[in-house]
Amino acid sequence: MKENLERIKQEALAQIKQADLPEKLNDVRIKFLGKKGELTAVLKGMKDVAAEERPKVGQWVNDTRVAIETALEEAKEALDGMLLELQLKNEVIDVSLPSKKQPMGYRHPNTIAREEVERIFIGMGYEVVEGPEMEYDLYNFEKMNMPADHPARDAHDTFYINEKIVLRTHTSPVQARVMERGVLPIRMIAPGRVYRSDEVDATHSPSFHQIEGLVVDKDVTFADLKGTLEVFAKELFGPETKTKFRPHHFPFTEPSAEVDVSCFKCGGTGCRFCKDTGWIEILGCGLVHPHVLEMCDIDPEEYSGFAFGMGIERVALLKYEIDDMRLLYENDVRFLKQF
Ligand code: PHE
Repeated sequence: MKENLERIKQEALAQIKQADLPEKLNDVRIKFLGKKGELTAVLKGMKDVAAEERPKVGQWVNDTRVAIETALEEAKEALDGMLLELQLKNEVIDVSLPSKKQPMGYRHPNTIAREEVERIFIGMGYEVVEGPEMEYDLYNFEKMNMPADHPARDAHDTFYINEKIVLRTHTSPVQARVMERGVLPIRMIAPGRVYRSDEVDATHSPSFHQIEGLVVDKDVTFADLKGTLEVFAKELFGPETKTKFRPHHFPFTEPSAEVDVSCFKCGGTGCRFCKDTGWIEILGCGLVHPHVLEMCDIDPEEYSGFAFGMGIERVALLKYEIDDMRLLYENDVRFLKQF
């Protein structure tokens, strides 16, 4: 009996030694320790062993079982370690390989220009607000002092959604929307997209962007407007920049002006950039028309204000010396990545 058990043990140990996969170890376990395994068969034969021999034989069988189990366990541990090592070796990552580049976009010149203008006015205490691109005729025209038969509407030919709603032709309707809130004083800028039915060329597009400005308070004068825009122009185009206010007409401001800045390219002596005039036009402005204040429930006897509006594309074209507006809309990355 003892020899038999010793033979089983040696055989099991030999097979454990040869197993090179966890599955093979499992086969060995079943073969020797399983229900129909060799050791189990020995146990079943215990009934033929003389009663007084049984404890001794039982002990042998048990020792054999423990020896095989321990060997199995140790072999499994060693095998798992080996397999892990192998896997780590195979799946090693070469950190010195160049990584896949995630393509990154660039900020659009329009965005840069808008943020620059916003930054300057935020610095002067202005709030940034937005209005809808689809706007009521009421706000786009009527409340901007352009009733249905007003000739100034000609310059603002646009896209009609229906009789009452248009694609806004300027950001000025945001003035009326903010004034109607009834919270005074007002110090706001309103950037956004506007539309006009213009043909596309180097300086026109049926859809472009503006930034509106509006200040309403007690005792606001044209001097405040001039001072504000002078500071703004110097911030945007450099401290040497001069400003010039040319009389103009807008239905919603009185008096009105267009503002030119001294050419930052030639300093005012005249060049190709300023068409030899030394000046570059940048915006329209004026004191808010008393009738506009009235239509927005603000008493013009008590309050006054100024407003201005500028084209964002125009600022971008000037600042980055881009000579064709169409480049801003083509979204060619080779162009955009330069800014
Ligand atoms: N809304 C005018 C335009 O689009 C610009 C402007 C704004 C003029 C505010 C005066 C005051 O041309």
